[in-house]
Amino acid sequence: MAIRDILYYPDPRLRNRAQPVDSVDDEVRRLLDDMLETMYAAPGIGLAAIQVNVPKRAVTIDISEHSDQPLCLVNPEILEVTGSVETEEGCLSVPGIYESVERADWIRARALDRDGQAFEFEAEGLLAVCVQHEIDHLDGKLFVDHLSQLKRQRIRKKAHKQQRQEM
Ligand code: NI
Repeated sequence: MAIRDILYYPDPRLRNRAQPVDSVDDEVRRLLDDMLETMYAAPGIGLAAIQVNVPKRAVTIDISEHSDQPLCLVNPEILEVTGSVETEEGCLSVPGIYESVERADWIRARALDRDGQAFEFEAEGLLAVCVQHEIDHLDGKLFVDHLSQLKRQRIRKKAHKQQRQEM
């Protein structure tokens, strides 16, 4: 396993639309393992492959208290949503920014697991929010896109400033 470099907003590669995974082979499993390691090291509770510059539809999530319940979603799709909830969201690609975003409170979704087996699941609350946030990434969308233009401009300026300081 290896920790991969995370792309930071406003990197245009975060806007790429991720392509479906044809088959969950060893390369994809290696990617998922690296994503989990990268996510835990950050630390974060969710990561999409596009954030480590791999435009494939693969996501890792772990919202458990002890970071010991990894969830790997390949080609995830939301089938049904209900309700709405506002959550303070952050993103490993937008460090230091936390803003309230409104999303569905309950979802039913399907995906392939680490072994390529199709499964369906229901999620509510934080897990539902997290799945929606990560699937957004696969479509080139970031949580800041849900905010007002004014807030987005402010965040973009802050991101540029941070990157200059890091250079
Ligand atoms: Ni994110």
